[in-house]
Amino acid sequence: MAMTWSKEDKRGAGEAVKAAGFVGIGVASAFLGILAHKVFIRRVRNVDMITASMIDKQARVRGLVTRVGDGDNFRLYHTPLLSFTQRRAILGRKMTANDTIHVRLAGVDAPETAHFGKPAQPYANEALEWLRKTITGEKVSVKLLRKDRYGRVVGNAQLLAKWYRPWRKNVSMELTKAGYGSIYAQDDAEYDGMLDRLRKVESDARRKKRGMWKQKKVELPADYKSKYRG
Ligand SMILES: *[C@@H]1O[C@H](CO)[C@@H](O)[C@H](O)[C@H]1NC(C)=O
Ligand SMILES: *[C@@H]1O[C@H](CO)[C@@H](O)[C@H](O)[C@H]1NC(C)=O
Repeated sequence: MAMTWSKEDKRGAGEAVKAAGFVGIGVASAFLGILAHKVFIRRVRNVDMITASMIDKQARVRGLVTRVGDGDNFRLYHTPLLSFTQRRAILGRKMTANDTIHVRLAGVDAPETAHFGKPAQPYANEALEWLRKTITGEKVSVKLLRKDRYGRVVGNAQLLAKWYRPWRKNVSMELTKAGYGSIYAQDDAEYDGMLDRLRKVESDARRKKRGMWKQKKVELPADYKSKYRG
């Protein structure tokens, strides 16, 4: 018998393919749903989109650093899992404050730059330059720890590996090592388990007189801030 398909056969096959398609879509979306709890498929546009549950889970967001505003905070453009936009295209884009997540580095304070008529602290510009050079345009992963009263998220940031540096670097640790970060000691501090290591690198930087520790007498950023708070 020749293998010819009757109309009914064709319709039947069509239904089967459709059914298989629906099952496939179902399985795929369930899978993506599961994945969405761990990695973000939707872009977290700004701090307002960070939910309490993301903070509870200490979720991590990955993206590109678009700007460094001060020695201890920066703006992150989140690139979720299924984002294939090129790095150059993202970095070349005009951004509003709403398009990026404002991140405050966890556990450390950098010298204060000039603000609202207050003079800059010594080494503030060096700290800012150091952070700019180290993370601007780079890929980082940020563990979300809390939101602060300035509308930022306090996060533990890591520079992702690169071909010439196949390991990650913790940004708060590196800032402190370079002598531009001192341990943040107010009650709302978040160390993410790094306090001992931060203490170690801070005392090392002091001993070696790196960065701001070159000064004879160092006014800690916290003291400077409370002085100007009046
Ligand atoms: C930022 O987003 C908020 C809503 O989340 C909106 O009210 C506000 O106008 C936006 N601002 C800018 C500059 O786009
Ligand atoms: C740096 O921060 C990340 C979170 O982004 C953390 O997982 C890692 O352990 C930290 N590194 C060090 C050396 O503490």
